[in-house]
Amino acid sequence: MSTLVDLHCHVHPGVDDGPPDEAESAALLRALADAGVSRLAATSHVRPDHGWMNTLEGEPARAQRLERIRADAGVAIDVVRGAEHYWHEVVLGDLDRFAALAVPYGGSRWVLIETPYLGPPPQLAERLFAVHRKGFRVLLAHVERFPYLEGDRALLDRLHQMGVRFQVNLGSLSGGHGRPQQKAAERMLKTGLVSVLAGDCHRAVDVEAYVVRGLAAARALLDEATLKRLCIEGPSAILDDAPAERV
Ligand SMILES: [Fe+2]
Repeated sequence: MSTLVDLHCHVHPGVDDGPPDEAESAALLRALADAGVSRLAATSHVRPDHGWMNTLEGEPARAQRLERIRADAGVAIDVVRGAEHYWHEVVLGDLDRFAALAVPYGGSRWVLIETPYLGPPPQLAERLFAVHRKGFRVLLAHVERFPYLEGDRALLDRLHQMGVRFQVNLGSLSGGHGRPQQKAAERMLKTGLVSVLAGDCHRAVDVEAYVVRGLAAARALLDEATLKRLCIEGPSAILDDAPAERV
């Protein structure tokens, strides 16, 4: 595959736990292009508990800066906007506020949401349903990292039927985040409920460890058509604002 569409990447310099400076942003873009990524969503964190508020208001300035970095580096990647919205009262507590601060993918209504690490948030399905009713479509980030999601097939099915879609990290499949997470990612793939595989790279060095090795691991588990669906067609459908049934 030579035209990967990567919907999860921390590439803006100095705004979260991604690249600390412009040189590292450029190096990350270059490494992704070398790995075959042709379209990339810049999904910096919206995480109040870490002081990272990469919301809609500041997005044009971030995009402009990144475009200059990309052009100066001579990297041929189509970068689209996005954000990784953390499940937090400040972010999702007030959905009018969420609608004002959220950064959907490109010109679509799809948003990337990261659920809590310590346990399931109260009324997870009900609150995601409310996010849908607000006009958004939800892609859940690296579901394999959350045992309360990955291990609960009934909940996964319920969310999927609601139109929520699931993203798994290539770096989990490669074993880059440890053995338990690798096994969880493999189990997720076996459910047939995954729509998107993504890099979630934070540094240039992650590209080899996550994207390149993750793709090799995915290729060993999936047929070529499924791999294409998860790495190109599913992500592209999201950027095209396709309804969940087509993602
Ligand atoms: Fe991320």
